Amino acid sequence: MADAMQAKQQISELCQQLNEYNHQYYVLDNPTVPDAHYDRLMRQLKELEQAHPDLMPLDSPSQKVGGEALKSFSQVEHQMPMLSLDNVFSEEEWQAFVKRITDKLADRQHIQFCAEPKLDGLAVSLRYEQGILVQAATRGDGKTGENITENVRTIGCIPLKLRGENYPEILEVRGEVFMPKASFDALNEKAINNDEKTFANPRNAAAGSLRQLDSKITAKRNLAFYAYGLGFVNDENWLANSHYQRLMQVKQLGLPVCPEIKLLADQSGCAEFYQDILNRRDALSYEIDGTVLKVDDIGAQQILGFVARAPRWATAYKFPAQEELTELLDVEFQVGRTGAITPVARLKPIFVGGVTVSNATLHNQDEINRLGLKIKDTVIIRRAGDVIPQITGVVLNERPVDSKDIIFPTNCPECNSKVERVEKVHHFKTKESESSSQATFRCVGRLSCKAQLVQSIIHFVSRKGIDIEGLGDKIVEQLVESKLVTSPADLYQLSIEDFLSLDGFAELSAKNLFESIQNRRNITLDRFIYSLGIPDVGDSTSKSLAKELGSLNSIRKCHPILLSFISDVGNETAKEVFEFFNDKHNIIVLDKFKFDEIITISDEHQVSYNFASKVLNEKWRIIHKLGILKVGEIASKALVSRLLDLNDLLELNYERFLSITNENNKLLSLSIRNSVLDKIKESDFRVMVNDIQSSIDKLDLVNVSEEDTSDVGGLEGLVFVLTGTMKSIKRSELGKLLEAHGAKVTSSVSIKTDYLIAGEKAGSKLAKAEALGINIIDDTKALNLLEQNGF
Ligand code: IVH
Repeated sequence: MADAMQAKQQISELCQQLNEYNHQYYVLDNPTVPDAHYDRLMRQLKELEQAHPDLMPLDSPSQKVGGEALKSFSQVEHQMPMLSLDNVFSEEEWQAFVKRITDKLADRQHIQFCAEPKLDGLAVSLRYEQGILVQAATRGDGKTGENITENVRTIGCIPLKLRGENYPEILEVRGEVFMPKASFDALNEKAINNDEKTFANPRNAAAGSLRQLDSKITAKRNLAFYAYGLGFVNDENWLANSHYQRLMQVKQLGLPVCPEIKLLADQSGCAEFYQDILNRRDALSYEIDGTVLKVDDIGAQQILGFVARAPRWATAYKFPAQEELTELLDVEFQVGRTGAITPVARLKPIFVGGVTVSNATLHNQDEINRLGLKIKDTVIIRRAGDVIPQITGVVLNERPVDSKDIIFPTNCPECNSKVERVEKVHHFKTKESESSSQATFRCVGRLSCKAQLVQSIIHFVSRKGIDIEGLGDKIVEQLVESKLVTSPADLYQLSIEDFLSLDGFAELSAKNLFESIQNRRNITLDRFIYSLGIPDVGDSTSKSLAKELGSLNSIRKCHPILLSFISDVGNETAKEVFEFFNDKHNIIVLDKFKFDEIITISDEHQVSYNFASKVLNEKWRIIHKLGILKVGEIASKALVSRLLDLNDLLELNYERFLSITNENNKLLSLSIRNSVLDKIKESDFRVMVNDIQSSIDKLDLVNVSEEDTSDVGGLEGLVFVLTGTMKSIKRSELGKLLEAHGAKVTSSVSIKTDYLIAGEKAGSKLAKAEALGINIIDDTKALNLLEQNGF
């Protein structure tokens, strides 16, 4: 009896909770808990209801699909109900599902399955009458949904008229509206940029976009659709007897169907399909949260029929949850290699996305503010693929009374030095080339800060840097702790005895490490630059700097305005490089290398012709970058034609302006003239121009001849990204060939990308390249390109 009383109480609480979550999800478009949490509660409820069928309330959420329709859209009654799917979460549960089916269909030898990805968007029903899209509706509660016709009409891939002639008079197509990952990323980047609320995941973004009362907003959101079934169809004879064939019929009519769907001869292929899609999940351009397995034969489907809310002939075989709830125990502040202070969330350990997570980065203060986070909050933690775990939201109504604000430290938690605020401008590489500024905090202690020293040395000796084998993080920590090393150059002064004084070293291991270090005294310029750990400078930028500027001295002397002429170096990176080499701490650290004594750079040469020619022949670019109001490309070109050198700009006066004309032989306008004459009076500006001119002089560009470009390939200046499986060559080999021809190979697609080489199974990079309108070629075309350039 007590048992039943307890069960009744639990059922009632679960119903109340789930109904609330349904309301938030379906009606308010604002879910507050992850799916996995919802699924778990639903399972508990179903188990209890199964054990106590007489206790099931009439309004149990286990018996209905979703919530009520939104009031602000008109309502649509579905001619055929829109059903949902039951879930299985393991191979065992999948086998149980198959057994139920085979038992019911005992007369059939083989049961074919249609296997599909479970798209993570929202279900819609499209109604075509005489081939014209007349209505689109959300699922709502399965019987009645919202009329979202105007919004759906704006979705690019949904045809307003069916193709061909062969369609029934009335045809309802059902499928999922979703937001591709690339569109979602772009939308959130924009939102952050405009200080607006971001969406937690592509599904919420799709739902939010589709439920806009203003369809112009929906139109801008780049939604997509895949059909996965049919609703009411007035002509039975038109319909194939196979679910898969029906989808092919729908595809014939111009509706998109997910290209991943497969017809499987029997259930044995289903687990493999699940695993294959799970492996490729990150590479797909859209989010999925499992696979859907459907008995293919329509006759068999009819025999199997339905339970309350879902068909017995299909089930969703879900992936492990990527979102979970947990508690934020504390926030600690970590000091990185460049002194940047990053808040790190310490979490109550939680199993999510296949691993136990107990930490998550919070990036910076803006991120904490954006999330509105407090210590002890219940947070949504998301771990998708190999991406580092993220906190994507806070469950505000779970906030305890003793929650605490997160306070940023004013002094470095490692060395107690002052913390400075640095405004960092991020340029988003989207079509519209947007940017936003975010504050980061940096410890000013540089290498006197133990945390920065340890991280700097770990970076210095890493594989892409000086590459010292056997010098692991723990050894670096000991070397720093024991003060044997206070800067990277000290590594070369260590003796075998020094290593023997550390934990875990014996004669042989100490000797080996000593030799590994001594063997790395001779280093290429690009590796040396990389190893310094300049903020924003990875291996690819280091290569560009080394290739274009040729020597450490030139890199050290190059003004940021000139640095920004180098491919891969934007204004922000140029500033970082310049500041790094002009920082007084760093000058001391670099001097400790006593070049050609402690360390030798093996491949220095003159600045490249490519760089020299930009600076010497296209000087107008320098003028253009000086930030003089109203001086654009045309005025810059006009000014350059009359200047002896850059410093001569500072000598301009009213009279001289009377002889400066633009390409159309017109005098420069009065406002340009005044703007220049005002600017050259500013002392900061004069200093800057002098600095640039003296940087140009120090780079010694005059002697660079065209012969110096002999090693430069014909793909110079072009940026390539490689993705997917190539047909005729290994991806890494193709990358090397391109680099050998002067091209740059980078890992992420941006507006700076010239070509995306897409092999088979190309995923999100392909989608992003398409979204950005970048040239997309396959490996055959890439090899042709190389051939034209002397491959
Ligand atoms: S079939 C009668 N196929 O999952 C069966 N649904 O959890 C109706 N979904 O409401 C659904 N991908 O929004 C089906 N390939 C797929 C799907 C899919 C995603 C969604 C759909 C449905 C929900 C059920």
